[in-house]
Amino acid sequence: MHVLVVGGAGYIGSHMVKLLVQRGFEVTVLDNLSTGHRDAVVEGAQFVLGDLFERDIMEEACRECRFDGVIHFASYIQVGESVREPAKYYRNNVFKTQNLLDVLVARRVNNFIFSSTAAIFGEPVRIPIDEEHPKLPINPYGRGKWMVEQILEDYDTAYGLKSVCLRYFNAAGADPEGQLGERHDPETHLIPLVLQAASGRQPHITVFGQDYDTPDGTCIRDYIHINDLCEAHLLALQRLWDGADSTVYNLGNGNGFSVQEVIETAHAVTGRDIPVHYGERRPGDPARLVADSRKAKAELAWEPRYADLATIIAHAWQWETRS
Ligand code: UFG
Repeated sequence: MHVLVVGGAGYIGSHMVKLLVQRGFEVTVLDNLSTGHRDAVVEGAQFVLGDLFERDIMEEACRECRFDGVIHFASYIQVGESVREPAKYYRNNVFKTQNLLDVLVARRVNNFIFSSTAAIFGEPVRIPIDEEHPKLPINPYGRGKWMVEQILEDYDTAYGLKSVCLRYFNAAGADPEGQLGERHDPETHLIPLVLQAASGRQPHITVFGQDYDTPDGTCIRDYIHINDLCEAHLLALQRLWDGADSTVYNLGNGNGFSVQEVIETAHAVTGRDIPVHYGERRPGDPARLVADSRKAKAELAWEPRYADLATIIAHAWQWETRS
Protein backbone atom coordinates (compact mmCIF):
# COMPACT_ATOMS: atom_id res chain seq x y z
CA MET A 1 0.00 0.00 0.00
CA HIS A 2 1.26 3.49 -0.88
CA VAL A 3 0.28 6.36 1.42
CA LEU A 4 0.64 10.07 0.64
CA VAL A 5 1.38 12.06 3.81
CA VAL A 6 0.74 15.76 3.30
CA GLY A 7 2.63 17.77 5.89
CA GLY A 8 4.81 14.77 6.67
CA ALA A 9 7.76 16.93 7.74
CA GLY A 10 5.88 18.45 10.68
CA TYR A 11 5.50 17.33 14.28
CA ILE A 12 2.67 14.80 13.97
CA GLY A 13 3.31 14.06 10.29
CA SER A 14 6.94 13.04 10.80
CA HIS A 15 5.97 10.55 13.52
CA MET A 16 3.27 9.18 11.19
CA VAL A 17 5.77 8.73 8.36
CA LYS A 18 8.14 6.84 10.66
CA LEU A 19 5.34 4.51 11.78
CA LEU A 20 4.24 3.81 8.20
CA VAL A 21 7.80 3.12 7.03
CA GLN A 22 8.40 0.82 10.01
CA ARG A 23 5.21 -1.09 9.19
CA GLY A 24 6.34 -1.64 5.60
CA PHE A 25 4.14 0.87 3.75
CA GLU A 26 5.38 2.81 0.77
CA VAL A 27 5.28 6.49 1.76
CA THR A 28 5.44 9.76 -0.18
CA VAL A 29 5.63 13.01 1.77
CA LEU A 30 4.39 16.27 0.28
CA ASP A 31 5.43 19.28 2.33
CA ASN A 32 6.24 22.94 1.57
CA LEU A 33 8.63 23.09 4.57
CA SER A 34 7.00 26.33 5.74
CA THR A 35 6.98 24.95 9.28
CA GLY A 36 8.26 21.39 8.83
CA HIS A 37 11.82 20.10 8.69
CA ARG A 38 13.26 18.10 5.81
CA ASP A 39 15.45 16.11 8.22
CA ALA A 40 12.38 15.00 10.18
CA VAL A 41 11.34 12.80 7.23
CA VAL A 42 12.84 9.41 7.99
CA GLU A 43 14.80 7.40 5.47
CA GLY A 44 12.65 5.15 3.37
CA ALA A 45 10.01 7.78 2.54
CA GLN A 46 10.05 9.73 -0.71
CA PHE A 47 9.96 13.49 -0.36
CA VAL A 48 8.24 15.96 -2.69
CA LEU A 49 8.70 19.66 -1.98
CA GLY A 50 5.44 21.36 -2.86
CA ASP A 51 2.59 23.54 -1.73
CA LEU A 52 -1.09 22.71 -1.96
CA PHE A 53 -1.55 25.82 -4.11
CA GLU A 54 0.51 24.08 -6.79
CA ARG A 55 -2.07 21.83 -8.38
CA ASP A 56 0.36 20.61 -11.04
CA ILE A 57 2.76 19.21 -8.41
CA MET A 58 -0.06 17.26 -6.76
CA GLU A 59 -1.32 16.03 -10.11
CA GLU A 60 2.14 14.88 -11.11
CA ALA A 61 2.60 13.06 -7.80
CA CYS A 62 -0.77 11.33 -8.27
CA ARG A 63 0.10 10.44 -11.88
CA GLU A 64 3.43 8.92 -10.91
CA CYS A 65 2.17 6.92 -7.92
CA ARG A 66 -1.10 5.16 -7.25
CA PHE A 67 -1.87 6.28 -3.74
CA ASP A 68 -4.09 3.97 -1.72
CA GLY A 69 -4.67 6.57 0.97
CA VAL A 70 -3.86 10.14 1.95
CA ILE A 71 -3.21 11.53 5.44
CA HIS A 72 -3.41 15.31 5.57
CA PHE A 73 -1.55 17.10 8.38
CA ALA A 74 -0.51 20.34 6.63
CA SER A 75 -2.08 23.11 8.65
CA TYR A 76 -1.38 26.19 10.70
CA ILE A 77 -2.16 25.44 14.35
CA GLN A 78 -2.01 28.57 16.47
CA VAL A 79 -5.38 29.67 17.76
CA GLY A 80 -4.27 33.21 18.72
CA GLU A 81 -2.63 33.80 15.34
CA SER A 82 -5.80 32.61 13.61
CA VAL A 83 -7.74 35.39 15.35
CA ARG A 84 -5.19 38.02 14.26
CA GLU A 85 -4.74 36.63 10.73
CA PRO A 86 -7.88 34.76 9.68
CA ALA A 87 -7.05 35.14 5.98
CA LYS A 88 -3.88 33.12 6.46
CA TYR A 89 -5.79 30.37 8.23
CA TYR A 90 -8.73 30.09 5.85
CA ARG A 91 -6.39 30.19 2.84
CA ASN A 92 -4.05 27.54 4.18
CA ASN A 93 -6.29 25.27 6.21
CA VAL A 94 -9.48 25.43 4.12
CA PHE A 95 -8.86 26.53 0.54
CA LYS A 96 -5.59 24.66 0.08
CA THR A 97 -7.23 21.56 1.53
CA GLN A 98 -10.01 21.91 -1.02
CA ASN A 99 -7.36 22.12 -3.78
CA LEU A 100 -5.93 18.87 -2.54
CA LEU A 101 -9.36 17.22 -2.38
CA ASP A 102 -10.18 18.34 -5.93
CA VAL A 103 -7.01 16.75 -7.27
CA LEU A 104 -7.72 13.54 -5.35
CA VAL A 105 -11.26 13.38 -6.72
CA ALA A 106 -10.05 14.10 -10.28
CA ARG A 107 -7.32 11.44 -10.04
CA ARG A 108 -9.67 8.97 -8.31
CA VAL A 109 -7.51 8.73 -5.18
CA ASN A 110 -9.71 7.67 -2.27
CA ASN A 111 -9.39 7.13 1.52
CA PHE A 112 -8.57 10.42 3.20
CA ILE A 113 -7.59 10.94 6.84
CA PHE A 114 -7.98 14.50 8.08
CA SER A 115 -6.37 16.13 11.14
CA SER A 116 -9.21 17.83 12.93
CA THR A 117 -9.23 19.27 16.41
CA ALA A 118 -11.06 19.70 19.70
CA ALA A 119 -11.26 23.39 18.72
CA ILE A 120 -14.29 22.61 16.53
CA PHE A 121 -16.38 22.23 19.73
CA GLY A 122 -15.65 25.69 21.15
CA GLU A 123 -16.55 26.18 24.80
CA PRO A 124 -17.73 22.71 25.92
CA VAL A 125 -21.30 22.29 27.07
CA ARG A 126 -20.51 18.88 28.58
CA ILE A 127 -17.41 16.91 29.59
CA PRO A 128 -16.11 14.48 28.40
CA ILE A 129 -16.64 15.58 24.80
CA ASP A 130 -18.04 12.92 22.49
CA GLU A 131 -18.41 13.08 18.71
CA GLU A 132 -21.97 14.41 18.88
CA HIS A 133 -21.10 17.38 21.09
CA PRO A 134 -22.32 20.66 19.48
CA LYS A 135 -19.83 22.26 17.10
CA LEU A 136 -19.58 25.92 17.99
CA PRO A 137 -15.96 26.88 17.26
CA ILE A 138 -14.93 30.23 18.70
CA ASN A 139 -11.93 31.09 16.52
CA PRO A 140 -10.93 30.94 12.83
CA TYR A 141 -8.67 27.94 13.46
CA GLY A 142 -11.54 25.84 14.81
CA ARG A 143 -14.03 27.21 12.27
CA GLY A 144 -11.72 26.31 9.38
CA LYS A 145 -11.30 22.74 10.61
CA TRP A 146 -15.06 22.38 11.04
CA MET A 147 -15.58 23.74 7.50
CA VAL A 148 -13.27 21.06 6.12
CA GLU A 149 -15.15 18.36 8.04
CA GLN A 150 -18.36 19.56 6.38
CA ILE A 151 -16.71 19.77 2.95
CA LEU A 152 -15.61 16.16 3.39
CA GLU A 153 -19.16 15.08 4.14
CA ASP A 154 -20.35 16.75 0.94
CA TYR A 155 -17.47 15.29 -1.11
CA ASP A 156 -18.40 11.83 0.08
CA THR A 157 -22.07 12.33 -0.89
CA ALA A 158 -21.27 13.81 -4.28
CA TYR A 159 -17.98 12.18 -5.31
CA GLY A 160 -17.71 9.12 -3.07
CA LEU A 161 -14.52 10.32 -1.36
CA LYS A 162 -14.24 8.28 1.84
CA SER A 163 -12.70 10.03 4.82
CA VAL A 164 -12.10 9.86 8.54
CA CYS A 165 -11.75 13.06 10.56
CA LEU A 166 -9.65 12.65 13.70
CA ARG A 167 -10.21 15.34 16.29
CA TYR A 168 -7.13 15.56 18.41
CA PHE A 169 -7.17 16.88 21.91
CA ASN A 170 -3.64 17.86 23.06
CA ALA A 171 -0.99 16.07 21.00
CA ALA A 172 2.16 15.74 23.10
CA GLY A 173 5.27 13.67 23.74
CA ALA A 174 7.84 12.44 21.26
CA ASP A 175 9.15 9.38 19.49
CA PRO A 176 10.07 6.90 22.28
CA GLU A 177 13.23 6.04 20.29
CA GLY A 178 14.38 9.65 20.55
CA GLN A 179 14.67 10.24 16.79
CA LEU A 180 11.81 12.74 16.42
CA GLY A 181 10.06 15.34 18.53
CA GLU A 182 8.33 18.71 18.62
CA ARG A 183 10.17 21.56 16.87
CA HIS A 184 7.70 24.41 16.46
CA ASP A 185 9.04 27.89 15.95
CA PRO A 186 7.79 29.75 17.84
CA GLU A 187 6.82 27.06 20.36
CA THR A 188 3.46 27.79 21.98
CA HIS A 189 2.54 24.41 23.50
CA LEU A 190 2.61 23.84 27.21
CA ILE A 191 4.69 20.66 27.60
CA PRO A 192 7.67 21.67 25.41
CA LEU A 193 7.70 25.12 27.00
CA VAL A 194 7.65 23.65 30.52
CA LEU A 195 10.55 21.39 29.56
CA GLN A 196 12.47 24.28 28.03
CA ALA A 197 12.09 26.05 31.39
CA ALA A 198 13.38 22.87 33.09
CA SER A 199 16.41 22.61 30.78
CA GLY A 200 17.21 26.33 31.04
CA ARG A 201 16.39 27.14 27.39
CA GLN A 202 13.61 29.41 28.68
CA PRO A 203 13.90 31.47 31.87
CA HIS A 204 10.48 30.34 33.15
CA ILE A 205 7.04 29.04 32.19
CA THR A 206 4.14 31.45 32.37
CA VAL A 207 0.87 29.90 33.56
CA PHE A 208 -1.97 31.54 31.66
CA GLY A 209 -4.65 32.17 34.30
CA GLN A 210 -5.19 30.84 37.81
CA ASP A 211 -8.82 31.81 38.19
CA TYR A 212 -10.56 29.17 36.08
CA ASP A 213 -13.39 27.12 37.52
CA THR A 214 -11.16 24.07 38.08
CA PRO A 215 -9.81 22.56 41.33
CA ASP A 216 -6.49 24.45 41.22
CA GLY A 217 -7.70 27.32 39.03
CA THR A 218 -5.59 26.39 35.97
CA CYS A 219 -6.88 24.99 32.67
CA ILE A 220 -7.42 21.26 32.23
CA ARG A 221 -6.44 19.43 29.04
CA ASP A 222 -6.35 15.86 27.78
CA TYR A 223 -2.78 15.08 26.62
CA ILE A 224 -2.41 12.28 24.12
CA HIS A 225 0.89 10.73 23.07
CA ILE A 226 1.92 11.42 19.50
CA ASN A 227 2.52 7.72 18.78
CA ASP A 228 -0.92 6.79 20.05
CA LEU A 229 -2.37 9.42 17.71
CA CYS A 230 -0.41 7.97 14.79
CA GLU A 231 -1.63 4.44 15.56
CA ALA A 232 -5.20 5.76 15.39
CA HIS A 233 -4.52 7.20 11.91
CA LEU A 234 -3.30 3.87 10.67
CA LEU A 235 -6.27 2.02 12.17
CA ALA A 236 -8.64 4.55 10.60
CA LEU A 237 -7.01 4.10 7.20
CA GLN A 238 -7.17 0.33 7.50
CA ARG A 239 -10.86 0.59 8.35
CA LEU A 240 -11.48 2.57 5.17
CA TRP A 241 -9.52 -0.03 3.21
CA ASP A 242 -11.81 -2.66 4.74
CA GLY A 243 -14.74 -0.81 3.18
CA ALA A 244 -16.07 1.20 6.15
CA ASP A 245 -18.03 4.41 5.65
CA SER A 246 -16.70 7.89 6.32
CA THR A 247 -16.77 8.88 9.96
CA VAL A 248 -15.22 11.01 12.74
CA TYR A 249 -13.43 10.15 16.00
CA ASN A 250 -12.39 12.17 19.04
CA LEU A 251 -8.90 11.21 20.20
CA GLY A 252 -7.72 11.72 23.75
CA ASN A 253 -6.96 9.66 26.86
CA GLY A 254 -10.08 10.76 28.69
CA ASN A 255 -7.99 12.10 31.60
CA GLY A 256 -7.74 15.80 32.28
CA PHE A 257 -4.61 17.38 33.77
CA SER A 258 -4.33 20.97 34.90
CA VAL A 259 -1.45 23.23 33.85
CA GLN A 260 -0.26 23.06 37.46
CA GLU A 261 -0.32 19.24 37.39
CA VAL A 262 1.66 19.20 34.15
CA ILE A 263 4.33 21.40 35.76
CA GLU A 264 4.45 19.18 38.87
CA THR A 265 4.72 16.01 36.77
CA ALA A 266 7.47 17.59 34.67
CA HIS A 267 9.34 18.46 37.85
CA ALA A 268 9.04 14.85 39.05
CA VAL A 269 10.12 13.42 35.67
CA THR A 270 13.08 15.74 35.09
CA GLY A 271 14.22 16.28 38.68
CA ARG A 272 14.78 19.93 37.70
CA ASP A 273 13.40 23.07 39.26
CA ILE A 274 10.94 24.75 36.92
CA PRO A 275 10.63 28.51 37.46
CA VAL A 276 6.96 29.47 37.20
CA HIS A 277 5.40 32.89 36.58
CA TYR A 278 1.68 33.44 36.82
CA GLY A 279 0.11 35.55 34.08
CA GLU A 280 -3.22 36.56 32.64
CA ARG A 281 -5.61 34.17 30.93
CA ARG A 282 -4.82 33.56 27.25
CA PRO A 283 -7.87 34.66 25.23
CA GLY A 284 -9.89 31.78 23.77
CA ASP A 285 -8.74 29.07 26.22
CA PRO A 286 -11.65 26.94 27.47
CA ALA A 287 -11.29 25.92 31.14
CA ARG A 288 -11.55 22.21 30.47
CA LEU A 289 -11.19 19.96 27.40
CA VAL A 290 -11.39 16.21 27.91
CA ALA A 291 -12.20 13.66 25.21
CA ASP A 292 -14.66 10.83 25.21
CA SER A 293 -12.83 8.42 22.87
CA ARG A 294 -15.03 5.39 23.38
CA LYS A 295 -16.08 5.38 19.73
CA ALA A 296 -12.46 5.12 18.50
CA LYS A 297 -11.75 2.41 21.04
CA ALA A 298 -14.83 0.40 20.06
CA GLU A 299 -14.69 0.77 16.28
CA LEU A 300 -10.94 0.93 15.67
CA ALA A 301 -9.85 -1.29 18.58
CA TRP A 302 -7.59 1.67 19.41
CA GLU A 303 -5.92 1.47 22.80
CA PRO A 304 -3.46 4.21 23.80
CA ARG A 305 -0.14 2.66 24.79
CA TYR A 306 1.42 5.69 26.48
CA ALA A 307 -1.60 7.02 28.34
CA ASP A 308 0.37 8.00 31.41
CA LEU A 309 1.23 11.72 31.58
CA ALA A 310 4.66 11.03 33.13
CA THR A 311 5.57 8.79 30.17
CA ILE A 312 4.40 11.41 27.67
CA ILE A 313 6.54 14.02 29.44
CA ALA A 314 9.51 11.62 29.77
CA HIS A 315 9.57 11.08 25.99
CA ALA A 316 9.35 14.83 25.37
CA TRP A 317 12.18 15.35 27.91
CA GLN A 318 14.35 12.81 26.10
CA TRP A 319 13.85 14.91 22.97
CA GLU A 320 14.43 18.24 24.76
CA THR A 321 17.73 17.01 26.20
CA ARG A 322 19.04 15.28 23.05
CA SER A 323 22.62 16.13 22.25
N1 UFG B 1 -0.43 27.26 28.67
C1 UFG B 1 0.18 28.00 29.65
N2 UFG B 1 1.38 28.57 29.37
C2 UFG B 1 2.00 28.44 28.16
C3 UFG B 1 1.36 27.67 27.16
C4 UFG B 1 0.14 27.08 27.45
O1 UFG B 1 -0.33 28.14 30.75
O2 UFG B 1 3.08 29.01 27.96
C5 UFG B 1 -1.72 26.62 28.96
C6 UFG B 1 -2.83 27.05 28.02
O3 UFG B 1 -3.44 28.20 28.52
C7 UFG B 1 -3.73 25.82 28.03
C8 UFG B 1 -2.77 24.65 28.26
O4 UFG B 1 -1.56 25.23 28.78
O5 UFG B 1 -4.59 25.88 29.12
C9 UFG B 1 -2.44 23.93 26.99
O6 UFG B 1 -2.03 24.87 26.02
P1 UFG B 1 -1.40 24.46 24.64
O7 UFG B 1 -1.09 25.73 23.89
O8 UFG B 1 -0.31 23.48 24.84
O9 UFG B 1 -2.56 23.67 23.93
P2 UFG B 1 -4.03 24.17 23.59
O10 UFG B 1 -4.95 23.39 24.48
O11 UFG B 1 -4.20 25.62 23.54
O12 UFG B 1 -4.02 23.75 22.07
C10 UFG B 1 -4.37 22.53 21.57
C11 UFG B 1 -3.46 22.20 20.39
C12 UFG B 1 -3.55 23.32 19.39
C13 UFG B 1 -4.97 23.47 18.99
C14 UFG B 1 -5.85 23.67 20.20
C15 UFG B 1 -7.27 23.68 19.83
O13 UFG B 1 -2.15 22.03 20.86
O14 UFG B 1 -2.74 23.04 18.27
O15 UFG B 1 -5.65 22.63 21.13
O16 UFG B 1 -8.09 23.66 20.94
F1 UFG B 1 -5.10 24.53 18.20
